[in-house]
Formats: sequence, C-alpha cells, structure tokens
Amino acid sequence: MNLVHLARRFVGSLGSQEPEASDEVWVRSLLNEGERRLWERMPASDRRHALGVARAVPVDVAPAALLHDVGKIVSGLGTFARVGATVLGWSGRARWHGRVGDYLRHDVLGAELLRSAGSSDVTIAWAAEHHLPPDRWTVPPELGAALKAADDD
Ligand SMILES: [Fe+2]
Ligand SMILES: [Fe+2]
Repeated sequence: MNLVHLARRFVGSLGSQEPEASDEVWVRSLLNEGERRLWERMPASDRRHALGVARAVPVDVAPAALLHDVGKIVSGLGTFARVGATVLGWSGRARWHGRVGDYLRHDVLGAELLRSAGSSDVTIAWAAEHHLPPDRWTVPPELGAALKAADDD
C-alpha cells in the first residue's frame, strides 16, 4: 500500500454508514454461525470494504473476501490510529507490540479467529495470505488472483 492508496482508504473509511440491509442478508446466507458473529464485530467501514471485494469475486470464495481483514477486530484501532499504524508498519512490523502490533498482524490473527469459527480452508488461508506475494499463496492461484484484484489494499 502506498500513500495514495492509504489516503483513499482513509477517506473511504470515514463514514460509519451501515451496509445496505440486502447486503447484510446476502452475507448471512454465506457465513456459518461463528463467522456471522465475527462479521458482526467488524466496524461498518470494514464491512463495506469487504462487501465490495465479495461482490467482485466468484461466490464460492465470497466468504474469504468478506472475512479477509477480520483480524483487525483484535486491535480495535480506529481510523486515525490505523493510518499511524500503517505508516509505522512500513518501517518493519516485527518491532511493534500491543494494539499497533495486533493491527499489523491482522492476517495471522484473522486466520486464528476463522479456524476457531470453523471456516473453510480457503477462507482461513486467504486471511493469512492476503498480504503475501502470489508465490507464497496456498490458495488456488486463480482464486487468489481474483481476490487480490478485487481488493484495493
Ligand atoms: Fe489486510
Ligand atoms: Fe482489503
């Protein structure tokens, strides 16, 4: 993610507007019970972003799209703190602890949450791998490519 991307995400995440009710119904039809509980803990801005990704990929990987950033619920950082965390993360995430560290490790933490929720292998793997280069994916390459192309971060 570069500065232009970061600025765009920042502006996009300012609204706390809820997704459309019809989108929430669609989400509920795709997720298991544990996944639904996780989804409900995501802030509205993250749910809107995830819905945009999910609407752009094949429906069988829509759950992976909806929950790829679910690990961000662990840190509970708001919009302003996330910008700071992202900039700090550019200097190497291994050095950061506490909530900033949790935010920067949202991939690993998200995969753990999804494993506990009984998610599918591809949903768990994509949470863990969505910031990795394609040569490190275990998800089928065509699915990873579709998910990545639909995601703007
Ligand atoms: Fe992410
Ligand atoms: Fe994303």
